[in-house]
Amino acid sequence: MAQDTLPGTTDRRLAGLLTLLAENSMIVISGARIAKEIGVSRSTVWRWVQRLRALGVKVKGQPATGYFLEQTADILTPNMLRQRLKGSLFGKHIYHFFKTDSTNRVALELGHAGEAEGAVVLSEEQTAGRGRAGRLWHSDRAVGIYVTVLLRPRLAPVQAPLLTMMAGLSARSAVQAVTGLTVDLKWPNDLLLNGKKTGGILTEMHAEPGQIRFVIVGIGLNVNQEKFPGALADTATSLRVETGKSQSRMELLVRLLREFENDYNRFLREGMEGVVARFEEVSTYAKGKRVRVTNGTESYVGTTAGLGPEGLLQVQRDDGKVMTVIAGDVTEAR
Ligand code: BTN
Repeated sequence: MAQDTLPGTTDRRLAGLLTLLAENSMIVISGARIAKEIGVSRSTVWRWVQRLRALGVKVKGQPATGYFLEQTADILTPNMLRQRLKGSLFGKHIYHFFKTDSTNRVALELGHAGEAEGAVVLSEEQTAGRGRAGRLWHSDRAVGIYVTVLLRPRLAPVQAPLLTMMAGLSARSAVQAVTGLTVDLKWPNDLLLNGKKTGGILTEMHAEPGQIRFVIVGIGLNVNQEKFPGALADTATSLRVETGKSQSRMELLVRLLREFENDYNRFLREGMEGVVARFEEVSTYAKGKRVRVTNGTESYVGTTAGLGPEGLLQVQRDDGKVMTVIAGDVTEAR
């Protein structure tokens, strides 16, 4: 795909306007200068400013005086991201949306259309963010990171779940580096802080027997939410809640994609053992945790007994039988 455009992606020139404003936040830039720099008329600049405002971007000013961003903006503009990811696998094709249903859905579509490995789809807001087991992923505007990457690894389909665990490790490292917080990983795809969920990963793939055609790894990270609605209030948290201050989504995303690329290359080079070993080392859920496992057919309580060679969780039931968890929900049993 030559251009990072799809129906609904942020127009390149609109993104240019945003970048210009964001790079000069608090500084008034005249409509004439903006028009000249991005190559549109002054009236188009005015229309676009109104569009940005409707999307929740805090642009102040008016045609006569010029425009500025009210505060240091933390918008994941594709131009800035591309610059920060220069030379990276993920810096080439970035599809940015202000709003879409699900970045995983878009990435799947791109995969089927032949998009190359490394494409990144991100949205400021999702209207139907997908979670595991058909759940919804709460994706309010501009407070979280909602990103999906497209990969074409030469791996067998059974190895795809390891990419979920690997992504968890990458996200953990990124959060640690940017915020200082130590995230716990709950097998297979949850990022926890203080026992509450602050992120999740949803991997989906298109495969033939024995060979992955492409796989998409979707990562949701709760960054600047101050509170969560309904039942989520007790089970979800964000980096802001845990640190008491707002965090930069841009810094987190850049670090996350850089960590992901390193981990991915290592995985392809060295195989799955490293991922399994690292996950076991950092996850308090991997060994010795009392858990309840619930899947479509049964529910039982036991103690986690490490991961199998392919990364599947082993749970020793109270009657001594060791179960391998292939699918299902694992929750702490108290
Ligand atoms: C889970 O823990 O249930 C997985 C949540 C995954 C959410 C992310 S947000 C970005 C990407 N797009 C989606 O629709 N889902 C994933």
